[in-house]
Amino acid sequence: MIKIKKRKILLLPGDGIGPEVVNEVKKIIEWFNKKKSLDFEIEEDLVGGVSYEKHKKPITDEVFYKALESEAIILGAVGGPKWDTLEFSKRPERALLKLRKELKLFANLRPAICFKQLVDASSLKPEIVSGLDIMIVRELTGGIYFGEPRGIKPIENGERKGINTHVYSSNEIIRVAKVAFELAQKRNKKVTSCDKSNVMEAGILWREEVQKVKDEEYPNIELSHMLADNCAMQLLRKPKQFDVIVTDNLFGDILSDEAAMLTGSLGLLPSASLGAKDKNGMYEPVHGSAPDIAGTGKANPIATILSFAMALKYSLDLDKEADNLEQAVQKVLDDGLRTQDILSKGKKEVSTSQMGDAIISKLK
Ligand code: IPM
Ligand code: MG
Repeated sequence: MIKIKKRKILLLPGDGIGPEVVNEVKKIIEWFNKKKSLDFEIEEDLVGGVSYEKHKKPITDEVFYKALESEAIILGAVGGPKWDTLEFSKRPERALLKLRKELKLFANLRPAICFKQLVDASSLKPEIVSGLDIMIVRELTGGIYFGEPRGIKPIENGERKGINTHVYSSNEIIRVAKVAFELAQKRNKKVTSCDKSNVMEAGILWREEVQKVKDEEYPNIELSHMLADNCAMQLLRKPKQFDVIVTDNLFGDILSDEAAMLTGSLGLLPSASLGAKDKNGMYEPVHGSAPDIAGTGKANPIATILSFAMALKYSLDLDKEADNLEQAVQKVLDDGLRTQDILSKGKKEVSTSQMGDAIISKLK
């Protein structure tokens, strides 16, 4: 077997269930190192609330530079009730937003796939979700998450005003639209772009720029535009009408949580955040820190494991290994093993680490 060069992977487990689910990925990386002679170099550090506890900031410069130098970052989750009352700049979530913004990870890929073994885990009827395979492309470094001006300002009569700005420039829209069209080329050649062009100028620009990219560069792709509220409704009514959905930061946040539930559990949805620079990317499960089940061994590690599969594919050029891992997940589900979030009658309940071990045992 040929030894390839060392590749740096930074693990940022973070808060809540983050450490438990990322630990399963760590075991998988170690398996690849040992069994496939892949020389992954693993580093691990603090982010979010745990970083605040130690350093009084959600991410230190040192960790940020480590992230900058890694080929792939695997992030667990950040946040929890303990830090909810902190001043905004110190909150765990700021670390995540800083990493996304400063590493310029503008395209967030969130695939929602309903595994055949889990059709019954969805709260929707089996015929609505079975065979579902959609890809949400969420713009990740612009829009109302980062727009200026922002803040809470005093106004007259002791009242205060909360301000956020929803703003997009053409280039921000064009580059994420291209990511969506490129993905659609390899899928069913269908893109739905979601905006609120009926009430927002930034939405009108969004619609015009996406259409222009299609007309000029992707004439073979079928593009439709949909208002974001209608998209939320259509996702529940007839989700299989979608292939690739491209939308802004805020709508993408909301629509991807909704899409997750079509698949049965938020514990199944991986994500990849990609930018322009080489192939570096950050990979995280879409679920949050789930403080209510942290430390109980109940968390589902599949979203994080599938996020690592996306890292193998998009950052590390290891498509075969990604397939290997995805198939191992399928086999474990075939065997009837389930964490509590996807448990149904007749299936065997397993803990976070038992699920990880079972997946490793199916790797080829
Ligand atoms: C997500 C999360 C984050 C977001 C939070 C934790 C800041 O909900 O990745 O979807 O709003 O983007
Ligand atoms: Mg979210």
